Amino acid sequence: MILARWCPLPILIVALLSLTRGDEPTVPSRTRSATAVVSDYVGAGSCSATACHGSIAPWGRDLSPVLRNEHTTWMSDDPHSRAYQVLFDSRSERIALALAADPAQPRPAYRDERCLACHATPRPSNELAPTAWLNPDGVGCESCHGPARRWLGPHTTTDWTSLPRTAKADLGMRDSNDLPSRARLCVGCHVGAAESDQASLRDVNHDLIAAGHPRLNFELAAYLDDLPAHWVEKDANATPPGRRNPERAADFTARAWSIGRLTTLAAALELLQSRSRLVDNDANAINHPDAATPWPEFTEYDCFSCHHDLNGQTRRAGGSGGAGIAGSPRWGSWSLSTTDELLAEIAGSPETRRFLGARSRLATEMAKPFPDTKLVGPIASEAATALAAGASSLESRRFDSARVAALIGRLDQPDGWERAAGWDEVAQRYLALTPLLQSWIELDPDHEAEQARLTARLKELRALLTFPKGFDSPKGFQIETIRSVPARGPRPIQHP
Ligand code: HEC
Ligand code: HEC
Ligand code: HEC
Ligand code: HEC
Repeated sequence: MILARWCPLPILIVALLSLTRGDEPTVPSRTRSATAVVSDYVGAGSCSATACHGSIAPWGRDLSPVLRNEHTTWMSDDPHSRAYQVLFDSRSERIALALAADPAQPRPAYRDERCLACHATPRPSNELAPTAWLNPDGVGCESCHGPARRWLGPHTTTDWTSLPRTAKADLGMRDSNDLPSRARLCVGCHVGAAESDQASLRDVNHDLIAAGHPRLNFELAAYLDDLPAHWVEKDANATPPGRRNPERAADFTARAWSIGRLTTLAAALELLQSRSRLVDNDANAINHPDAATPWPEFTEYDCFSCHHDLNGQTRRAGGSGGAGIAGSPRWGSWSLSTTDELLAEIAGSPETRRFLGARSRLATEMAKPFPDTKLVGPIASEAATALAAGASSLESRRFDSARVAALIGRLDQPDGWERAAGWDEVAQRYLALTPLLQSWIELDPDHEAEQARLTARLKELRALLTFPKGFDSPKGFQIETIRSVPARGPRPIQHP
């Protein structure tokens, strides 16, 4: 659950649970079968030697530029190493059963392309079966760092570190260091992605969610915080002395949030484009494997527009995206909220203007009961391209304390809280303010009192947003209670 993000406890619980998962069916061993086809992938086992990335303890910086215990961290603490294993558990069994056309013959999740697409190293669907030996890695090293066959040897040589990024990319290594590339990596599975030369379709749609799959609520800063890092965050621009994270720039969390927001929205729009295309193909090709593609896709709307405790009060307070028609579910409640404030702060670029134009046309169309796929596809694609360019341009920008405080000010305005129409939009505000506050504290020691007040309010908000035990939805959530949090108690931060 998303609000677990900022506390390390859930990871611990996940780690403990995995130790007690002794009753699961045996997962096939990580050895390669003799029938394996030639593939660009080598598997995580190739990285696990003690002298490579499987050291028990991290090496000192004087001895090695990298920690050398990356495989150990991934194996013991990182949920990605168990991503395939969960396809054998009872929850996956229930999902598979609910999705089965014939309940007497459900397709096991661990053999279902729809699941393997994200719960194993992403690869084209025609490669999934011949390279099934790779599945037990779950989300292995090469899911993020790229297929290693061609760089495995070279990257152990002394010349490697001085090689330019482009040369490494030519050998198949993916850049995970700069934040826009890193964000694009994560959203492929944490938001979803169209079928491509490198991967099959990755989509957790409403069918999967109704069958029991957790909803995907990605936010980069929180997810990076939650992932047991097997690396030391490097940043050449990190300078101020005496900082808590000397290797990480003080504005890291603020930039991660900003870049993450734009990249997440771009990914959601690309998925929208791919969905509209599949629907078009359905009409043309009777035997298309994706026939009966749902349209419009419910996961793009506020879940709690349709699934809430009705209490006779309208939740509409007008606002973002032009999707405020009473009686229609709210489109883009997760992916669009807080982007207005962010874009207003970094406004002025041609990309921003291009995006905003496309966005309002899209929101109007998506608020209709049956959005026109021919219209939606191209606009979604145009909006996604503009956003991706915006995210890349943010990589070279630094956020000083004034900019971070201004962003906090924009997001913490009473009318912003007033506009937030439901759980999604309030949760996004919480998820925005938390990393921004973290950067503000690191950048600006002169506003301790204001920062402490915001910390206290965020804590209160978090408690109100947390789902009750045993629920996957904000049962009993009252938007009125949330609205009173900023108004009550300490005043919101005001910045020009
Ligand atoms: C678009 C990528 C994607 C696809 C497709 C996908 N999943 Fe997932 N799945 C995820 C992600 C990401 C999470 C973690 C969600 C989170 O906590 O943010 C997850 C979580 C889960 C969990 C909960 C794991 C836990 O530790 O509690 C189960 C079970 C699961 N998936 C099963 C399936 C099954 C079965 C399928 C196929 C029917 C499937 N998934 C398809 C990405 C995907
Ligand atoms: C979920 C994605 C993901 C997976 C899976 C993953 N990594 Fe990473 N890895 C990253 C990110 C993000 C970084 C930090 C950015 C960077 O330095 O490239 C990183 C950094 C590293 C670094 C440091 C690179 C440097 O230049 O400082 C090494 C070494 C590494 N990973 C090895 C591994 C190994 C070995 C595995 C498998 C056991 C693995 N990674 C699995 C995402 C991943
Ligand atoms: C190849 C697909 C894939 C990629 C790429 C990927 N993830 Fe994941 N991630 C998953 C799946 C699947 C799960 C669920 C695993 C489980 O619960 O067993 C998951 C789980 C997680 C979790 C734990 C969520 C929870 O509810 O506890 C975090 C945190 C996370 N991922 C962060 C990241 C970050 C940050 C990146 C990018 C650097 C990334 N992931 C890239 C597929 C992926
Ligand atoms: C446009 C309205 C609409 C939206 C938006 C919507 N759903 Fe649904 N959902 C339905 C309908 C209709 C059903 C099937 C009827 C039922 O089981 O209640 C359903 C069923 C479900 C079920 C299965 C319920 C059960 O008891 O079997 C789950 C879980 C679910 N939705 C979760 C979500 C989540 C999470 C989101 C947001 C990502 C979402 N829904 C968005 C209309 C919607």
